[in-house]
Amino acid sequence: MSAAAITFTDIPHPAPTPADAREAALVDPGFGNVFSDHMVIIDYTEGRGWYDATVGPRQPIPLDPATSVLHYAQEIFEGMKAYRQADGSVALFRPDANAQRFNKSADRMAMPHIPEELFIEAVKRLVAADKDWFPAVEGGSLYLRPFMFASEAFLGVRPAKQYKFMVIASPVGNYFKADSPSVSIWVSRDYTRAAPGGTGAAKAGGNYAASLVPQAEAIAKGHDQVVFLDAVEKKYVEELGGMNLFFSFEDGSVITPPLTGTILPGITRNSLIELAREDGLTIREELYSIDQWRDDATSGKLVECFACGTAAVVTPVGHVEGPEGGFDIGSGGSGQLTAKLRAKLVGIQRGTVTDTHGWVMKLG
Ligand code: PLP
Ligand code: COI
Repeated sequence: MSAAAITFTDIPHPAPTPADAREAALVDPGFGNVFSDHMVIIDYTEGRGWYDATVGPRQPIPLDPATSVLHYAQEIFEGMKAYRQADGSVALFRPDANAQRFNKSADRMAMPHIPEELFIEAVKRLVAADKDWFPAVEGGSLYLRPFMFASEAFLGVRPAKQYKFMVIASPVGNYFKADSPSVSIWVSRDYTRAAPGGTGAAKAGGNYAASLVPQAEAIAKGHDQVVFLDAVEKKYVEELGGMNLFFSFEDGSVITPPLTGTILPGITRNSLIELAREDGLTIREELYSIDQWRDDATSGKLVECFACGTAAVVTPVGHVEGPEGGFDIGSGGSGQLTAKLRAKLVGIQRGTVTDTHGWVMKLG
């Protein structure tokens, strides 16, 4: 079904948030706490395709108790941001990459594709409807959460015949508290995130459900995030619950774990690889073990380590608590490469650094 065949209906909001309440909510939104006034819904039924696209008031959606997603977790999502530009306009960063990854996730979860143009159109329309919801705070943006779930009321275990695609928006500030120079991460020994042949490369809700206990363990031990090792040898560093990792060495080389099928192919990861390579750096997508990580940090060979993702942008990792004890990385704060790559990426996203890659989609 072509996206052009689908027209969006605007449902007027009967009672949008008053300006003073909205401004108050935008002062210190944190991450994922505040929601805008609108949402997009598009329905899908097998044999009919996508239909009934609406941009309407954000509100609860009625679900039959037998709705398939509530039982078998057939659900995928994306995470992307709209950025206020220096000239006052608004832009998306690589929305085509989010649309493509969404359809790859759909393949893995036996869900239908949504045409890329329809995915992007839906996001654009929501940003237009919620243009007043950009927080003016440092590092602020409008986080967009497109998602799709099995909406058929049916308890047999098979791919559903009905789905809903939706987009909601959340004005956000920093993912981590801005006053800390780096994050501390906990290496999970008892839990893995994704096994070969599993769903680790898909942005499927179930992966995040499985990460909650190890993430809670990390917090309980006084760390910010959990890092997962590979499920087979429990040796190679994979990723955090919602971020990819990079390691930078004193000889100027950089390693990031390869896309073996068990980690999420981050769009930030991919962008940073390109930006670093055009700066002349050697980036290797290579397995890196927890033992090597500790040895390199201890010997000083490893000078910087950072996590990256849409929500967390580029965040230095200062301390790691591993199975054999803890170790610090570099100065424990942001190193030169981390700061440089972050500044370049954020500059492109916010329109202060020239976008030579065609990554930025201006929405006017
Ligand atoms: N890894 C996981 C498990 C994630 O959830 C995310 C966030 O989306 C990332 C990595 C980073 O991906 P991206 O840079 O596309 O946001
Ligand atoms: C993102 O960075 O967009 C994520 O999805 C990570 C997390 C908030 C789930």
